[in-house]
Amino acid sequence: MNNAPIGVYDSGLGGLTVWREIRRALPGESLLYLGDGKNCPYGSRPREEIRRLADEAVGRLVAAGCKLVVVACNTATAAAIDFLRGKYAGVPIVGMEPAVKPACLATRSRVVGVLATERSLDGDLFRRTAARYGEGIEVLTVPGRGFVELVEGDRESTPEAEACVRAAVEPMLERGADQIVLGCTHYPFLLPVLERVVAGRGVTIVDPSPAVARRVVQLLDRDGLRAEAEHRPDFGFLTFADEAYRRRLEQKALESL
Ligand code: DGL
Repeated sequence: MNNAPIGVYDSGLGGLTVWREIRRALPGESLLYLGDGKNCPYGSRPREEIRRLADEAVGRLVAAGCKLVVVACNTATAAAIDFLRGKYAGVPIVGMEPAVKPACLATRSRVVGVLATERSLDGDLFRRTAARYGEGIEVLTVPGRGFVELVEGDRESTPEAEACVRAAVEPMLERGADQIVLGCTHYPFLLPVLERVVAGRGVTIVDPSPAVARRVVQLLDRDGLRAEAEHRPDFGFLTFADEAYRRRLEQKALESL
């Protein structure tokens, strides 16, 4: 069991930003990535549908023998994490935490911006977290309209991407946000553009994926699940789309290292 892979799942390419952090934190572990691809983007789909898609994906990773599964998708976490933990109770499941807490602790302007998909922002998980840590702080939420499509379409470094990011972020800057939380795992691929847009404005961009990787390390240690020292890790890629998309996942993962 210890040498079994860690499963990582997202609607598409976005979860690779989490995959990369897990790979850095745990270089001796095998990883099996499932990027749905066929049903991406999830962001404005009904909650029930996202739950069904997440069930299918996590079921596939569990059936493939994964010892732990990371739902590297804020939208699927918001829609389905309790359901998944109940159904696959034998396997530890790690979800995405909206990084509102560290942003609220770090803000000096007392204005925090959160970029995420529509479905994440209207979910209970986000609302609870914002209410818990955002007291006395203005938490501005903006859906990253078009962001996922830009990343999936390999257009994250185009002028179109810059215009799209600027339209979402500028109102946050005008209200004085000094922390911007990336509440969707696709968004770190837009980091070079984001950094250009906020340059000189004293803003910190908060990406929760290193914290998710640390949580995976903690759980493996807690449950004694680390791979053996002589294990040679391998890196598999699965999709519900076609072989060309599966190869793209593989390629993008290697490029992201
Ligand atoms: N990467 C996903 C997230 O973290 C979902 C993006 C989408 O499919 O809309 O929310």
